[in-house]
Amino acid sequence: MHPHVPVLGTPAERLEGRDKVTGAAHYAAEHTPPGCAYAWPVPAAVTCGRITAVDTAEAEAMPGVLAVLTPTNAPRFAAPPDDPNLGVLQDDTVPHRGWYVALAVADTLENARAAAEAVRVSCADHGDEPEPHDVVLAEDHPEAYLPEEANGGYPALRERGDAPAAFAAAPVRVDAAYRVPPLHNHPMEPHAATAHFAGGRLIVHDSSQGSEYVRRVLASLFGLAPERVTVVSDHVGGGFGCKGTPRPHVVLAVMAAMRTGRPVKIALPRRHMPAVVGHRAPTLHRVRLGAGRDGHLTAVIHEVTTHTSRITEFVEQAAVPARVMYGSAHSLTSHWVVPLDVPSPSWMRAPGETPGMYALESAMDELAEALGMDPVELRVRNEPATEPDSGRPFSSRHLVECLREGARRFGWERRDPNPAARREGALLLGTGVAAATYPAYVAPSTATAQAHPDGTYTVRINATDIGTGARTVLAQIAADALEAPLEAVRVEIGSSRLPRASLAGGSSGTASWGWAVHNACTELAALVAKHEGPLPDEGIGADADTTDEARRTPPYARHAFGAQFAEVQVDTVTGEVRVRRMLGVFAAGRILNPRTARSQLTGGMIMGLGMALTEHSTMDAAHGDFTESDLASYHVPVHADVPAVEAHWIDEEDSLLNPMGSKGIGELGIVGAAAAIGNAVHHATGVRFRELPLTPDRVL
Ligand code: MOS
Repeated sequence: MHPHVPVLGTPAERLEGRDKVTGAAHYAAEHTPPGCAYAWPVPAAVTCGRITAVDTAEAEAMPGVLAVLTPTNAPRFAAPPDDPNLGVLQDDTVPHRGWYVALAVADTLENARAAAEAVRVSCADHGDEPEPHDVVLAEDHPEAYLPEEANGGYPALRERGDAPAAFAAAPVRVDAAYRVPPLHNHPMEPHAATAHFAGGRLIVHDSSQGSEYVRRVLASLFGLAPERVTVVSDHVGGGFGCKGTPRPHVVLAVMAAMRTGRPVKIALPRRHMPAVVGHRAPTLHRVRLGAGRDGHLTAVIHEVTTHTSRITEFVEQAAVPARVMYGSAHSLTSHWVVPLDVPSPSWMRAPGETPGMYALESAMDELAEALGMDPVELRVRNEPATEPDSGRPFSSRHLVECLREGARRFGWERRDPNPAARREGALLLGTGVAAATYPAYVAPSTATAQAHPDGTYTVRINATDIGTGARTVLAQIAADALEAPLEAVRVEIGSSRLPRASLAGGSSGTASWGWAVHNACTELAALVAKHEGPLPDEGIGADADTTDEARRTPPYARHAFGAQFAEVQVDTVTGEVRVRRMLGVFAAGRILNPRTARSQLTGGMIMGLGMALTEHSTMDAAHGDFTESDLASYHVPVHADVPAVEAHWIDEEDSLLNPMGSKGIGELGIVGAAAAIGNAVHHATGVRFRELPLTPDRVL
């Protein structure tokens, strides 16, 4: 018997990589049961109001049309949805432009689409009297209010000491307002679902970050026993949060399958997505930092105003990172929200931290400038001993090490602190730094592991691989717990028929699923070791449920940290900003697979580059709609925009997290990236821009 060679921590290649590049990996829209019909939804063409009539006569007479569902004739829900955004075709209200008001179902995609275009929907604005809609966010909006909680259950308002007084008394002060526009997730794979009733069961293939959640919601909405519903999310082409909750398309697919008695496929066109699958809400920030001349913070005030829709209270928790980052005797953090006639905002990669740390880390750069202090040193000086807001000790925190290591690798010491000091012809060059943080979440999961007589193992868990490499890292965790080679482990994920597990969100997947897999496999290894003689044909198994462990409230603050460095060039003729280099150093517990981890971290950094320079969704005040509805107008970075991007990490040992010692890495990489770039643009130009993105029209 050879000693086990550990595979956790090695750069194992994605187990499904070959399937993905050869087309053998099937995504939600690539499952086509025999007799499959196609559905195409009809979005509302008014901003808000009421449907007065839907004329389906022309559509119903078109070739191949099987049904046209409307608020009048669509199947009724058995129970109202917890998420009002799923309440499609149930009544005549239109909460925002783009809300689905009808669904055409036909034998082919083309026929369904043509029929959808032939549906005539008449709407009245609010009541019978046309009433102007309101989609414009402002701090002093008359409907702005302070909710109880921001997202994640965080209190909307936290005050320690007397921050306004401490700020007023501080010898060095920064008082700055920042704006982050609405942003859209735009994963490569748009939302899609295929729904199919067979043998008394509902089988749905959905592009989702958590099929168990989708199953639970569909069972409830349609009055089905949960065990008669299967939702499969086997391969998912990205989500970044917009597939974290069930979306209207999957509800429509089930309705259409019920009505027609046929399997029905629905694949959203990208131009529908801005209205129906959520967005990162715009955030208006006012940050006030007060410090002594030695750079020690005495007051941290971060006030956020954001919008939500009329049907959901969704409050981006953007001031929460200011409760985590820096020591200060006085602090005030608040979240105000304005309900508008806009589509409902939702989760987008590092919700809260991404816009919040843009503002806070930009303000820290302004403070460093006001103090005449190096921005790395300013952050080091304000390193807290415990989590500032809660007073809890950190399970581990290596922000200072990230800053130091990043500065060393980036060559920060060669930097001339004076702005607008480096020039190459028409280009101004600058460098910037910002910190990153993201919580280390964990959620209950269950898993089973089975040992087969041939020496192989099967691990089952309803985890979801949204492109992160989850499948692979779970196999690595299993192999080490079983002391087996990676090749001997088969991992089955991505179906609600498998043991219940948490969704791929909040960067919690590996910690949550891995914990259950580790426990099941550890127990199985012990059973196998005890077993005498050959294993029975059916093998032997073990299972695990981490509900108790994962729910325990730890006496520690658990977060990952990082430091982001960027070098930019600013064209003084065109105003174009280009990033030359990005370098991040992260402290995120134990890195379980350096290959997939690097990809997650650099992917996050590149998404932050997009946020800094090109990405924005413009809410058209007159039309009440997002102007950008395709990848030709919503500019995500392409290869030519992406320079040398390096992600490194500190080897962080943290035994207070989970058996693997890992923290999440899916979201950390985007946090602080936009601030580092913005700070570099200030360093290049000497001009402070406080509104994203830094497009040429703003910068010139
Ligand atoms: Mo992520 S925005 O928590 O899916």
